[in-house]
Amino acid sequence: MAELLDLSVDLGRGLRLRSPVMVASGTFGYGFDAPLVDRTALGAIVTKGTTPTARDGNAPTRIAETASGLLNAIGLQNPGVDQVARLYAPVWAQWDVPVIVNVAGDAVEDYIAVARRLDSTAGVAGMELNISCPNVANGLQFGLDPRMAAHVTASVRAVTRLPLLVKLTPNVTDIVAVGRAVEDAGADGVSAINTYVGMAIDVHRRRPVLSGESGGLSGPAIKPLALHAVWQLAAALSIPVVGIGGIMTAADALEFLLAGAAAVQLGTVNYVRPQAVREIRDGIAAYLEEHDLRALGALPIRPVRVEAHV
Ligand SMILES: Cc1cc2nc3c(=O)[nH]c(=O)nc-3n(C[C@H](O)[C@H](O)[C@H](O)COP(=O)(O)O)c2cc1C
Repeated sequence: MAELLDLSVDLGRGLRLRSPVMVASGTFGYGFDAPLVDRTALGAIVTKGTTPTARDGNAPTRIAETASGLLNAIGLQNPGVDQVARLYAPVWAQWDVPVIVNVAGDAVEDYIAVARRLDSTAGVAGMELNISCPNVANGLQFGLDPRMAAHVTASVRAVTRLPLLVKLTPNVTDIVAVGRAVEDAGADGVSAINTYVGMAIDVHRRRPVLSGESGGLSGPAIKPLALHAVWQLAAALSIPVVGIGGIMTAADALEFLLAGAAAVQLGTVNYVRPQAVREIRDGIAAYLEEHDLRALGALPIRPVRVEAHV
């Protein structure tokens, strides 16, 4: 019976989702411009990356379709944390779905400033750190180096008691090393993964399609890569892993849950089929019923060390 199914997920620190299906940062704005999506099927909304002050992002062209995915170089367009805290969060506080703010910056101080501002803001259920941002101090992305990733995580942890996810970049040799470093630095969970670096060239104009030349590849093309990253992380970490990357169907989401993800995020599919959130949530429920399983915690193929989400 559907009512007996438990689709809830505990991501720790009081962040409880009624469904394992979240929407991924950058593909759902701040939750306001998606009237087509049935919010009752959603576990949580993750917002666009938010910085201390407003940003316009990159010039067009910022998005390009590829054979099996999307390249984007939006460049962190966002209204800045003040507007988010003053105007958006009070509305979120009325919603029955938690909103997790994705946080971005050019320096550790940026992450600290955004986290401080959000920590005391009603309506913000948690934060997700996008560490795939270049650190102006050395031009390297925070998430490429376990020490830098740990430093930004610990610095934010020190100023907030909100649930803290750290979103890992896959553009590394050893994603588990970065995952372990952020776990040790106080992350409550990791989101895996952000986009892969890629590009497309316009053969007629003889120049890169994207104004930023390179961009982040998302969608079905990256699913097997993302799944492997989640598989490795779930085996190595004791905190929940949120699986992201090319999830288009309930079967895709189930692969991530079987690999040990506690929950999943949908990104590119929101542009293709806004109703995917409902379909995927219901497809997961149907699978549990069909296999006579009562809760998501029974899904992982291998034992998962996480206690929080079982
Ligand atoms: C247009 C676009 C904008 C994105 N913006 C952000 C962002 O601001 N912060 C972030 O952490 N990830 C961002 N992402 C990455 C997604 O949240 C997600 O990790 C990635 O797209 C892989 O999932 P998918 O294959 O389901 O799209 C963005 C992705 C897209 C397609």
